[in-house]
Amino acid sequence: MKILVTGGTNGMGKGVAKVLAGIDNQIHEVILLCRSKELGEETIKELENSTMNKKISIILCDLAKLTDVRTAINEIQSKHEFLDCIFINAGLGYAAKRVETEDVMDSHFQVNYLSQFMLTLNLLSLLENSENGGRIVFNVTRGGKIFWDDMQMKNAWSYESGIHQAMVAKRMFLVKLHNLFRDLKRSKLSFIGFEISKTVWSNQINIIPVPMKIMATIMKYFGTFISIEKCGMIMAPLFTEKQEDSLKRSGKFVTWGKNEFIEIKEEKEVLNQEMQDRLWKISLEICKDEKTTQIAKSLFGYTK
Ligand SMILES: NC(=O)c1ccc[n+]([C@@H]2O[C@H](COP(=O)([O-])OP(=O)(O)OC[C@H]3O[C@@H](n4cnc5c(N)ncnc54)[C@H](OP(=O)(O)O)[C@@H]3O)[C@@H](O)[C@H]2O)c1
Repeated sequence: MKILVTGGTNGMGKGVAKVLAGIDNQIHEVILLCRSKELGEETIKELENSTMNKKISIILCDLAKLTDVRTAINEIQSKHEFLDCIFINAGLGYAAKRVETEDVMDSHFQVNYLSQFMLTLNLLSLLENSENGGRIVFNVTRGGKIFWDDMQMKNAWSYESGIHQAMVAKRMFLVKLHNLFRDLKRSKLSFIGFEISKTVWSNQINIIPVPMKIMATIMKYFGTFISIEKCGMIMAPLFTEKQEDSLKRSGKFVTWGKNEFIEIKEEKEVLNQEMQDRLWKISLEICKDEKTTQIAKSLFGYTK
């Protein structure tokens, strides 16, 4: 499998990258989409040393910049004829205050959702070239709401609301993609939402304020957290399972419990087609990217 992991330099993304690079006789190729060249190269070295896999590379992209997303898409398309999997994972977590990006968006909205919406649409054709059944796994959690009148959260910002808005947006997006592709006889793609059932001891612990860090450290001794490697081991089958099994999961929101993936009941707003279309339209307008708009239009054409 050839897997692109967004945010593979830390946390859950790094855990998934590390496990996938190390299993199945190091057969899998891992591409880390990351914002820092230094950290990306350091991560390659670390993963190569621990797994002996030499098929790990980076694509530079700061998801807080739409120009970077366009450059990264072009680079991936020029270097790769196909992709088997994408892990839509990168995300900003704790923030002390609202940060506006150079594209005039709330940074959680842009990094955690919008830039990865654009990335995903542009890489669908590479997934369709996969011989193993292309798939996208979205790192999501339940809950959250879209602030339709204030999506950039200028009025009522909190980092938690920003994270949760992006989560619900990603879930709506994956269901929309599933619905668009489901009736296509030639479509072999699957779109899966995954929620980790335990908190992962990620780089967030190094970013949060001291009182939260002390609380987390205490909770660690009560078994509240799992390591990034354990998280990677839990998630690995979603990337490596057979196409037919992956297709059965498509459009679903799952978690891990009792040694198997179990489905989470999706919320009404997420399944509401009108809401999905509304978000899709707004997202395209914000991307202001001709190629992305064309791809979106062609997808709607498919379903006719
Ligand atoms: N930890 C949990 O228990 C948990 C549970 C459920 C869901 N999640 C979700 O999982 C995702 C990953 O979180 P994590 O806990 O693993 O956090 P993390 O350790 O902070 O990892 C976040 C990853 O996203 C990357 N990233 C952040 N901003 C970026 C940008 N502008 N451009 C490109 N990459 C960027 C980071 O890059 P750097 O390495 O350069 O910082 C890092 O690789 C988030 O969406 C989070 O909400 C986490």
